[in-house]
Amino acid sequence: MSLLQENISLRPYNTFGIEVKARYFAEISDPSQLIELQKNLVLEQHKLLVIGGGSNLLFTEDFDGLVLKISISGLKYEQRADQIIVTAGAGVVWNDLVNYAVQHDFAGLENLSLIPGTAGASPIQNIGAYGVELKDVFESCTAFEIATGEFKEFSRADCGFAYRDSVFKNELKGQYIITAVRFRLAAQANINTQYGAIQAELANREIINPTIADISTIVAEIRVSKLPDPSTIGNAGSFFKNPVIPREQFDPLVGKFPELVNYPVANGKIKLAAGWLIEYCGFKGKIDGHTGTWKNQALVLVNHGGATGKEVYSFSEKIIDTVYATFGVHLEREVNIL
Ligand code: EPU
Repeated sequence: MSLLQENISLRPYNTFGIEVKARYFAEISDPSQLIELQKNLVLEQHKLLVIGGGSNLLFTEDFDGLVLKISISGLKYEQRADQIIVTAGAGVVWNDLVNYAVQHDFAGLENLSLIPGTAGASPIQNIGAYGVELKDVFESCTAFEIATGEFKEFSRADCGFAYRDSVFKNELKGQYIITAVRFRLAAQANINTQYGAIQAELANREIINPTIADISTIVAEIRVSKLPDPSTIGNAGSFFKNPVIPREQFDPLVGKFPELVNYPVANGKIKLAAGWLIEYCGFKGKIDGHTGTWKNQALVLVNHGGATGKEVYSFSEKIIDTVYATFGVHLEREVNIL
């Protein structure tokens, strides 16, 4: 099959910049290529890894299977009363989608400015930032079922979204390839400024009635100030999830650590800021071999150049162990380990 390439370096395809190889590699620019691969039994013959921007992956070894890089393009919108449905091909770069919406003055994606990755990957872990999660703007997606070669539509309810989670990471893991995503945006600005850092910046700039573009600019600037740019320092954003713990565990903990950063969430549970826990344990900005945590955000692990995935992984183990020994709280990785 001409579509398949062999022994391809995955370094350009993962934002951590880890040097590993894929046994087979194919770039998918049209959904019909998936049908072709399925008919030729290629999809069932190989262990598969589907990637978008490679911004949430840590490779710890060569991938002995087929990597499918989804590059399906296309952006369009249709208006339904005061709502706008934007459809993005799965390979559209997330921030190109955000810019498209901001330029058209469609509200809903501006708080998600500058998140790395692609539109097609966004539902998988229900990406989120600055008070908005993908599920708040998600309308539906189209996905290719690997076993049958058929395309299926998933509504928001079908996706089972939760904090950095969906059915595509759980019961349907490895079964579908998302080819297009539809977003429900608003023709009238409905700005979300609940996040403290956004409020502070608006006050700082003396902006009382922010536009969609104002929020997008502010979010992008906050991100640039806190998070390393993957094109210069390899990273995959937050490496861990913010842990959610029961009230019975939280009460004695906050008694012992009164500064503990926390947010109440559903079912009487409490979300802790993993970045704070890691910083408290002395890891912020720490360098460990070729890896370390970012100087402005301890939740982000970085590749200072030449790091192997195993090195980053074992550094993350040290963090997990130290945070557990200090707080009795288990940090779960947000990044997919391969
Ligand atoms: N904090 C520290 N030290 C640190 C980092 C954070 O004390 O090194 C404290 C901050 O001072 C703040 C709190 O932790 O009080 C939360 O920090 P921040 O606002 O930076 O957000 P976060 O909870 O660390 C989450 C997401 C980010 C998202 C931001 C903004 C997760 C795992 N991460 O980080 O998402 O950009 O909120 O909404 O939920 C990603 O998922 O890759 C990602 C970057």
